[in-house]
Amino acid sequence: MIQRAQLDDQTALAGTELKSAVHDYWNQESCGTFVASADKHTREFYEQVEAHRYAVEPEIMTFAQFPRHYGKKLLEVGVGAGTDFLQWVRAGTKAHGIDLTEEGVAHVQHRLQVYGLRAEEFKVADCEHIPYDDNTFDLVYSWGVIHHTADTPRALSEIVRVLKPGGTAKIMIYHRHSLVAYRLWVHHALLAGKPWKSLSWAVWNFMESVGTKSYTRAEARAMAERNPIANLRIETILTHYDILGFQSSKVLQFLAKAFALCLGWHRAGWFMTLEFTKQ
Ligand SMILES: C[S@@+](CC[C@H](N)C(=O)[O-])C[C@H]1O[C@@H](n2cnc3c(N)ncnc32)[C@H](O)[C@@H]1O
Repeated sequence: MIQRAQLDDQTALAGTELKSAVHDYWNQESCGTFVASADKHTREFYEQVEAHRYAVEPEIMTFAQFPRHYGKKLLEVGVGAGTDFLQWVRAGTKAHGIDLTEEGVAHVQHRLQVYGLRAEEFKVADCEHIPYDDNTFDLVYSWGVIHHTADTPRALSEIVRVLKPGGTAKIMIYHRHSLVAYRLWVHHALLAGKPWKSLSWAVWNFMESVGTKSYTRAEARAMAERNPIANLRIETILTHYDILGFQSSKVLQFLAKAFALCLGWHRAGWFMTLEFTKQ
């Protein structure tokens, strides 16, 4: 359940409005489903979504390492259309999932039915108020989610709260000093005659749902280290989106790769992964 009533001060009110906008955006169409041409909720539809996802974001496999977590009690925060959630179920984890949207949860339900699989539990819920007790999960996984919520530090603290001591978190958030963010800034600030606008502003306003945040490595580290964690590892990954993998122009792709090379390749990547254990 979305626990909006728990947000009652001025800042939180703005947060609640933002959360409604985020909910409405993702509830229209779950992440990554636009690529499928087959009828919605069919096996072919999900096959298309899955094939596309791991073709353009192969780093998910390397980071998540689904098969290594057999038997673990897992929570995925922000399941979206459930593509990774399905991998957790196939890998034999005791899979629990939440998402802000009814659309995402419906996808998970259909997807499991289509493949004859079952998960422990999945439901609509807010990652700022994760509806599980302290010290519940061996592993909490969240790919591209908590930068969309109004209070990202709170979502991160919630993830730590529900982890068991010694449990692991695997999280991806967006990296500000990346080619994707620079491109948004050039397009929406520089070329729009507003060069004083910041990279954060460009990401907030023009990346997916309104209010999307992006972080430097130092900011992500500071945000994570406010919690009782250990063994924090932060990495950035140069993605398909940074090097214009979706563009047909080979010249533009070449220029993007040359730029990335000058900036240190993965150092200029859009995805920033955080992995840590709870103390
Ligand atoms: C970019 S999509 C990522 C979904 C999925 N993890 C994936 O990689 O395909 C962002 C997801 O975050 C979810 N989300 C945004 N704010 C949330 C919140 N406060 N609580 C739970 N889920 C949230 C959205 O509903 C959406 O499904």
